[in-house]
Amino acid sequence: MSQVIAEEPIEATAPEEDFVPELTAFTCIYCGDMAADTAGALRIQYPANVKFIKLPCTGKIDVRYILAAFEQGADGVYVVGCPIGNCHHVRGNERGWARVKRTKKILDEIGLGSERLEMFFMSGSQGETFANAAKEMLERMRRLGPSPLKGGSGR
Ligand code: FES
Repeated sequence: MSQVIAEEPIEATAPEEDFVPELTAFTCIYCGDMAADTAGALRIQYPANVKFIKLPCTGKIDVRYILAAFEQGADGVYVVGCPIGNCHHVRGNERGWARVKRTKKILDEIGLGSERLEMFFMSGSQGETFANAAKEMLERMRRLGPSPLKGGSGR
């Protein structure tokens, strides 16, 4: 195996056109996860660079989980739950939405920006909506650029 020695300094950040955002999605095991299955069954394409984390309900989402996802390299994070009024744990999605809104404020305060976090509500049959959520977040992160937490961290 040959060794390549760079003659010019390597840039710390990738050029914008090479930026492939990393996303973390928290889904409830009911509508959120079923919508992902529906998208797969219908062969609806959506970005592959999404790390999925299943929760019993989006009412279990926690500010700390979201911040940990950013600390671990996510450029954007989103939460997918059942439609309002149809949560399998009655009002869990409303509690989840309240925590997402609280976390958005924190993201603004610490300079990450609230746009890097979103919540989507959909039924298990909405595979297209599920795919569109991933696409929307990917496009949003492309516009915002890499998470400031990645800057100079050597990731
Ligand atoms: Fe889906 Fe509560 S079970 S959001």
